[in-house]
This record gives sequence, C-alpha cells and structure tokens, in this order.
Amino acid sequence: MKPLIIGNWKMNLSLQEAVSLARSVRQRLVLNRSGNKAEVVLCPSFEALVSVKKVLGRGQIELGGQDVFWQAYGPFTGEVTAQNLADLGCRYVIVGHSERRQHLAETNEMINRKVKAVLEAGMIPILCVGETIEERREQQQDLTVMTQIIEGLAGIQLTADQSLVIAYEPVWVIGSGQAINPPEAGRMSWVARQALIDIFPLTTVQQQTRIIYGGSVDDVNIKSFHDLELISGFLVGGSSLDSHKFIDLIKAL
Ligand code: PGA
Repeated sequence: MKPLIIGNWKMNLSLQEAVSLARSVRQRLVLNRSGNKAEVVLCPSFEALVSVKKVLGRGQIELGGQDVFWQAYGPFTGEVTAQNLADLGCRYVIVGHSERRQHLAETNEMINRKVKAVLEAGMIPILCVGETIEERREQQQDLTVMTQIIEGLAGIQLTADQSLVIAYEPVWVIGSGQAINPPEAGRMSWVARQALIDIFPLTTVQQQTRIIYGGSVDDVNIKSFHDLELISGFLVGGSSLDSHKFIDLIKAL
C-alpha cells in the first residue's frame, strides 16, 4: 500500500495562491517522478475546490475537503453537504480536526454524524484524533484517543466498498515545528488500532482502515515516522504550503 500524503492547506491561501500551489505541486510531482511513491491528496479551503480540481484534472492527485456538515439538505445557512463535496470531485474529507474541536466546539457526537455523512456520499473520511498538552500531562492521551475513535465511529459498519483513515495528531505539536518523537507516535498508533479492533472485525481493520500521523511533519522527520509499522501516511499542514517542501517530503520516503 502506497503511503497517503495529505496536504491540509487550512485557511491560509487566497484563491489565486491555491490555484498556483496546486499547479506547482502537480508539475513538480511529474518532474520528480514522485507520483508513484505516494497517494497524494490536496485539501484546499471550500472556495478553491473547483479551481484546484480543474488544475489537478484526472491525474495522480486527489482532492479533499477540510470539513463537511452532516445534514443532506435544509435550513443550515453556510453549511456544505457531503454530496456537494463529492460532486465537486472530493474523494476524501477531513473530519474533526483539532482546530475545529477547539475553536468551533465540535464534539465527538457531531464528528460521528459527519463521518457517517462522508461515508454515505461515497467518500473517505479522515477522522482526526489526538490529545491536548493538558491531557498528556495528566497521562490521559490513550483514553482521549480511544474515546475519540469509539465515539467518532459509533454505529458505523463499513461496507465492502467503504474505507476510512484515522489521523493521529497530538494537538500540542500541530504547527509547532517540533513533531512528537516517533516511538511515541508508534505507540499511539497501536492505541488507535486497538480502538478500531474494538469496533470492527479484524479483517475490516486490516483492509479498510489506515492510520496516519500529523503534526509538524517535514522532509527531515518523515522517514522516521514512515518506518513505523502502523503508520501508513501523513496529514501535513505547514510543509504542504510550499511545493518544494511538499515534494521534498514525498521524495524523502
Ligand atoms: P502542521 O499541521 O503540519 O502544520 O503541524 C498539521 C495539521 O494540522 O493537520
């Protein structure tokens, strides 16, 4: 299985900047012949999805949304449905990013509904989990991650054509420039895996789920995470905003 490399551009770019970054990532991927090294996904903000999709075409790079709403239609001003995202060409959707949990008070229950909506629309949810620094100081990291997975996936049974991604992102290292040490990320990925095994049959876990790491990933540290048994991809924020850095990171695999 090729590693999954997801660029999360957050709310950092103008429409023009998003289009030119997408173009540059695409060109460099071809130039460096790195396209077959990884499955690459770009997640621009909502207003740039259409234009970025045009740049990416039907090539090697997939499109992802940064968020979604759980209802299929109705009076929900400003929200976007999963079907809208699918129609725009998204294959993945980030759900429950810690920034949304923190600033927009998203709960595991809301996140659970979003995961269901993404699956129903035929896309792959990227469920973000991870402990805050306070939870780690109190040694609650395992419990936090297990609870986020068990509540985030409550009532979900994956059909044969569905899959999902768990992104373990320790909240305190996101955007800090200093990733967590790789053995600890490895240990936390086992905790996440155990939670998945509590929910799904083992073969489903093996064949239809994957665990990725996020939090200050760069071209220098990526290899040591990639060497870990359970980590099969990366959710990349800062280092995805520069096409040189982003492609270097893929090349480092
Ligand atoms: P970062 O962000 O790579 O800038 O730490 C990761 C994320 O928020 O998904």
